Amino acid sequence: MNNIEAKAIGFDHYGGLDVLEERNILVEISSLHDVIVKIERAGVNPVDTMFRSGGMSGGRPLDHFWIPGSEVQGEIVAMREPVAGLAIGDKVIGKPGRGGYAEYVALSHQNVFKIPEGMSLDEAAGFSGTASTAYWGLHGGFYNIQPGQTIAVVGASGSVGSYAVQLLKDFDVRIIAAASPKNRDYVLSLGADIFIDYTDQAQVNEYAGQADFVMDASLFNKGEKTALTLAKENATYMGMTTLPDPSLRPDVERVFLSRTAEMTNAIAMPALFNFYRKHGLTIKTGYVLPFTLDGVKEAHQMIEENRQPGKIILSREAE
Ligand SMILES: NC(=O)c1ccc[n+]([C@@H]2O[C@H](COP(=O)([O-])OP(=O)(O)OC[C@H]3O[C@@H](n4cnc5c(N)ncnc54)[C@H](OP(=O)(O)O)[C@@H]3O)[C@@H](O)[C@H]2O)c1
Repeated sequence: MNNIEAKAIGFDHYGGLDVLEERNILVEISSLHDVIVKIERAGVNPVDTMFRSGGMSGGRPLDHFWIPGSEVQGEIVAMREPVAGLAIGDKVIGKPGRGGYAEYVALSHQNVFKIPEGMSLDEAAGFSGTASTAYWGLHGGFYNIQPGQTIAVVGASGSVGSYAVQLLKDFDVRIIAAASPKNRDYVLSLGADIFIDYTDQAQVNEYAGQADFVMDASLFNKGEKTALTLAKENATYMGMTTLPDPSLRPDVERVFLSRTAEMTNAIAMPALFNFYRKHGLTIKTGYVLPFTLDGVKEAHQMIEENRQPGKIILSREAE
């Protein structure tokens, strides 16, 4: 297989929306890649905006064209060698580390999965990154959840949070879920036992000190204070963007959700598909935008302003 010419949306220096541009690129195919996916849809995530703004750069300048996009849906158009269970023409979920805002992506077959029956293409596009994050947050050995415990999910209406609330069905626990009031019915429909409006401090205080484990899946850790308030004495707090200053709750153990090499998609995705078949696993696909430069800019702006009415998907069908 040769490298493929493709259009892609990315940036070569950090900054605001204006650093985003469309370019013709060569999608490089190395010996690690055995499946080429023609991308039809991509999920847009807060981390994409953090990469663009330089929030993940550690102060180092960028020296190449960076293409965000860590979850896609598309069609297999080429394979290096036959792979059991995959064929050219299959509609699949792809999980690149990045490079999803493009026409094509080259992937190892271990990051390509047939879409389970019943899952829409839009849902499939927004599934792999955030569902696997929620999966490893609960199954990655960061905290040993016991039946009967109280688990709080802050940011329970978001992509990671809503998957986490649903996946907690497997643990026989009491779930406290915090989100904004417009998402109350949605969050309760996912299986939360108690809904907390994080904008109402009295409601947060009512459940202060009740959670054994708090998963802070709020946008850019904005719900950190709520999460720490809900934590029991000596509880565990899981952060996804940063960790709180230890002085805020010296008794609380702080763990950061970062995936190790053992936490592979090849483990998480089949487990998530099994859960999907058994219980269903939904996400609020809030907005489907055209897969264009303007679509990407609008998606990033909505996320940065916390205006996204659910998961944002870029779709070629919306062009
Ligand atoms: N470490 C990792 O591996 C990893 C992986 C994926 C994501 N992340 C991070 O995890 C976070 C969540 O990602 P996502 O894709 O689920 O984002 P998302 O879909 O945009 O969801 C964000 C959630 O944050 C809530 N929120 C916003 N402001 C809040 C506040 N002041 N207090 C409490 N909650 C608030 C939102 O609630 P309402 O909409 O109801 O207001 C929503 O539930 C992001 O910061 C992302 O960068 C980390």
